[in-house]
Amino acid sequence: MRSILLVIGGGIAAYKSLELVRRLAEHGIRTRAVLTRAGAEFITPLSVSALTGEKVYSDLFSLTDEAEMGHIQLSRSADLVVVAPATADLMGKMANGLAGDLASTTLLATDKAVLMAPAMNVRMWESASVRRNRAQLEKDGVLFVGPNDGEMACGEYGPGRMAEPLEIVAAIQQALAARGGPLHGVKALVTAGPTHEPVDPVRFLGNHSSGRQGYAIADALARAGAETTLVSGPVEIAPPHGVKLQRVTTAREMLAAVEAALPADVAVMAAAVADWRPDIAANSKIKKSVDRVVPLIKLVENPDILATLAQHAQRPRLLIGFAAETDDVVANAVAKRARKGADWIIANDVSGDVMGGDHNQVHLVSESGVQDWPDMTKAQVGARLVAAIIEKLKGAA
Ligand code: C5P
Repeated sequence: MRSILLVIGGGIAAYKSLELVRRLAEHGIRTRAVLTRAGAEFITPLSVSALTGEKVYSDLFSLTDEAEMGHIQLSRSADLVVVAPATADLMGKMANGLAGDLASTTLLATDKAVLMAPAMNVRMWESASVRRNRAQLEKDGVLFVGPNDGEMACGEYGPGRMAEPLEIVAAIQQALAARGGPLHGVKALVTAGPTHEPVDPVRFLGNHSSGRQGYAIADALARAGAETTLVSGPVEIAPPHGVKLQRVTTAREMLAAVEAALPADVAVMAAAVADWRPDIAANSKIKKSVDRVVPLIKLVENPDILATLAQHAQRPRLLIGFAAETDDVVANAVAKRARKGADWIIANDVSGDVMGGDHNQVHLVSESGVQDWPDMTKAQVGARLVAAIIEKLKGAA
């Protein structure tokens, strides 16, 4: 039976952690819990132990507890460590290596993946220090679920509500599945969505890419156990569980984020990067002139991220690009593969409603020829591409 160690921090959302324990039991996952001193101000050790069916651990300096199960052993007793609610305090402690109590010591001593479900006031969540700590934790490989937008116990509105118990269960299941996945130990990098190239503070050049295909690929990679970074242009869809999300706006920012995410074993460049950008982005809104002279926007070329990666000193072992074409789809993709130095090109015909739609019909162009895949959902394309990636990386190992 799979088991988690649940660290319950001190926040009003702690009541939802009781519900989480029940849901986990329904899904066949056993919970052992650490309740922080602040957490015990919100829920009682008795209710936690009644629901987990286990003793609750709460004090680092309890001799009896240490004799029964030392804090180091406790940190390793489960398949995954989950922090819910993850307070600003617990995030800050872990990000900075502080270990003054049982919860933080456990987080530092664990050799297991850690999943955090943050919950705090929106201003706290958006404060510079919490942002910094979160970025550090993400860099260290800590997984996150939520927080969600919504009304908060304190009456304010915004991001900071802890994810709902069932969302946390889904994230836990995914993190547990990834541990034994075929891409465990593999680093993956995915780009998705459009880029927006500013004309002035209110206008940009963009395109209709929804990001769905790239997000589906990142999701499939994470599910297969790859440590996945998703560099995303501006899109409206929710990020998949268990990926490190880097949001960017312009092509140049996307390139910088991609280079910062290296090294990677496999990279899938699914973003619809703008080929050109206005040579200067005006600092203030360009006004209609009285004599109705139309402004001329001069374009300059953007960096080609895929081609840059192909030439990079840290080139991923398997580099995959996309080709969105309206004519001569396969012929153009074959040429593009050679021109850009990618290993594979996924070619799709975007003359229909592919951009923004749920389906995709693609061709995989590789060193060994062209495979025509049937019409599938974008999730299925993601899964099939990941199956091909697994075969390729395993074959090369
Ligand atoms: O040349 P084209 O834009 O059709 O090539 C598409 C492929 O190249 C995609 O994989 C896309 O992510 C990538 N690309 C890029 N940087 C650009 C333009 C496209 O990485 N500036």
